[in-house]
Amino acid sequence: MSEVVTYSREGAIGVITVNYPPVNALGHAVRSGLLAAVEQGQADGEAQVLLLVCEGRTFMAGADIREFGKPMQEPGLPQVIDAFENCRKPVVAAIHGTALGGGLETALGCHYRIALTSAKVGLPEVKLGLLPGAGGTQRLPRLTGAQKALEMITTGDFVAAPQALELGIVDALDDGKDAKAAGLAFAQSIADEGKPVRRVRDLTDKVEADKGSAIFDQFRAGLQKKARGLFSPFKCVDAVEAAFNLPFDDGMTRERELFMECMESPQRAGLIHAFFSEREVSKVPGLAADTPVRDVKSVGIIGAGTMGGGIAMNFANVGIPVTIVEVQQEALDRGLAIIRRNYENSAKKGRVTQAQVEERMALIKTSLSYDDFKDVDLVIEAVFENMAIKKEIFAKLDEVCKPGAILASNTSTLDIDEIASATKRPEDVVGMHFFSPANVMKLLENVRGSKTSDEVKATVMAVAKTIKKVGVLVGNCHGFVGNRMLHKRGAEAMALVNEGATPQQVDKVLTDLGYPMGQFAMSDLAGIDVGYRIREERRKAGEDVEASWMDKLAEQGRLGQKTQAGVYKYEDGSRAPVVDPAVDQIIADFRTEQGITPREISDQEILERCMYVMINEGAKILEEGIADRALDIDVVWIYGYGFPAYRGGPMFWADQVGLDTILSAVKKYHDSIGGEQWQPSALLDKLVNEGKAFGDL
Ligand code: 3HC
Repeated sequence: MSEVVTYSREGAIGVITVNYPPVNALGHAVRSGLLAAVEQGQADGEAQVLLLVCEGRTFMAGADIREFGKPMQEPGLPQVIDAFENCRKPVVAAIHGTALGGGLETALGCHYRIALTSAKVGLPEVKLGLLPGAGGTQRLPRLTGAQKALEMITTGDFVAAPQALELGIVDALDDGKDAKAAGLAFAQSIADEGKPVRRVRDLTDKVEADKGSAIFDQFRAGLQKKARGLFSPFKCVDAVEAAFNLPFDDGMTRERELFMECMESPQRAGLIHAFFSEREVSKVPGLAADTPVRDVKSVGIIGAGTMGGGIAMNFANVGIPVTIVEVQQEALDRGLAIIRRNYENSAKKGRVTQAQVEERMALIKTSLSYDDFKDVDLVIEAVFENMAIKKEIFAKLDEVCKPGAILASNTSTLDIDEIASATKRPEDVVGMHFFSPANVMKLLENVRGSKTSDEVKATVMAVAKTIKKVGVLVGNCHGFVGNRMLHKRGAEAMALVNEGATPQQVDKVLTDLGYPMGQFAMSDLAGIDVGYRIREERRKAGEDVEASWMDKLAEQGRLGQKTQAGVYKYEDGSRAPVVDPAVDQIIADFRTEQGITPREISDQEILERCMYVMINEGAKILEEGIADRALDIDVVWIYGYGFPAYRGGPMFWADQVGLDTILSAVKKYHDSIGGEQWQPSALLDKLVNEGKAFGDL
């Protein structure tokens, strides 16, 4: 018998226990252990009913993702599940934690299911670019009917146990905390009542009811928008439909074919890289796992603008009180009103209750005085990007804040060390760069200054988890990881338009790659005035700043979405960008002014220049140690800029394109365009010479 699956008997119940931390994933040892255990239970003359339970924090959370892409070792999961379903004694699954993917599929192969009320079930394979490949697409619809099965399988969303009961996915709930005790009692009742084996594969009423329904085509049509660019959601619909068109065994064969198609797709590789990278970023190289973490029980925020307000909401959402300080009462009132409006909107959509809105609002206090920061554990400054102002603020914070308080700046570009130099405690100063809208975007780019202490680094990474963000620790340089790469892409996008491309052509290449929006639609969202103000400041400071047609937009009051006109126009309150001939004229006039004769620019050139310039910069970021690993860059881009997770992040994408292809294009643009952005990264060069990829670092 395998060590990870054991068989024992309690009275008339044969108990099969899985113990494979952390999440009882169905790796090879578990699969072969389960097969042996069910055979043993079947052969055990004293056992009337079998019970499947798991040790630790959860029921089986799915197939072992680490085995994907490697040769499959027998027995496969469908074979194991068949053995459970075909067992001649009733088998009960007792679910706690999360029964996910192959875990739920195994439970569906059992004849009865009981769940703790706190448990959740789901088939999240689609989030990994897959579909349930061990009967989930065939068994779930036999319990729930087509609509709910399609919803669960195409979104991958979890369903709480009470709803699973309503849907017929589980047969009973238990309010306690002990799945084994609940399972034993339930199994005993099955034995006492002499209930028979009940195989899900034999259930037909739901299948008959939805046979030939238009729902499958409706789902496909809906996915065209919701799952743009994705492969597996459409395969999920095909697989579920097979449950309604084919006998069970043929449906299983069809599911397997579709599963293998997904398994071989590059999207599966990208999404699984994203899954592990999201978890890996919290393990910071060089930062010991047992580094002490400071308590953060109260937070101060400077600035009640869009950023400050969004940041405050993150803390209020998890019950941490916040004090926002501004120089003027009107700014505080305005900021607070916007926070309330955001919460009220969430309440309207049913995401929070009105009581929660009030609880959260009550946690947000406002003040005009820094003295109210004297007891807070963490202060986050979120004011305009101006070094002099920030230094003044940090000097004041140094005076009022208690020893041990963490002093953070939400700067998106400025030097953390210079900000820290305004204090006598640079070890407590750190960057916490939130992404707009800060209450929505999942990324928190934590920036270490040269003197930031390990304790402070570990604390801000822990804070990210507390407020449900994905924290990535990065080094200090202009723009850090995300904006440093974005600025290179932005400059290249501008150059492409100057040379002859249209903004919409550039944006389309980026959205075709899978970004939710292109460079210029993003400028409209962020506000054209943001870049304009920065350029104006630099001009005032005597810097030689290149002329830009964007300045003309700003001067004409075309500030982006907020004025319904920017690079695009926005009609009837819609956020959908519409091409505006007036902007084409502004660009054409600009080219004439600058003596540029526009040329035809291919989509391939746009792709190469916008993407490869970022990859080259990403390689320099790695070279300089600003990011520790390529996966840190990938996570920054997926969670901060909407880079399509199914491409695994820009550096993973680059590996798939081929670093040699990218390097030769970088060299080509270095020769034809020049500039430091096209100076090939030494690391990129080295990797190509060694035949390696970023993933090998
Ligand atoms: N296989 C291998 N490792 C897994 C895993 C899996 N299915 N699920 C989680 N892990 C690992 C994580 O990588 C992490 O490892 P680490 O500690 O070394 O970083 C550890 O388990 C704990 O995971 P989390 O940090 O995510 O812990 P949480 O408690 O926050 O979440 C969870 C637990 C809800 C189970 C979450 O991990 C999760 O959603 N896992 C993926 C579930 C999933 O997608 N299952 C479907 C797999 S595909 C499948 O089943 C195919 C089948 O149809 C044939």
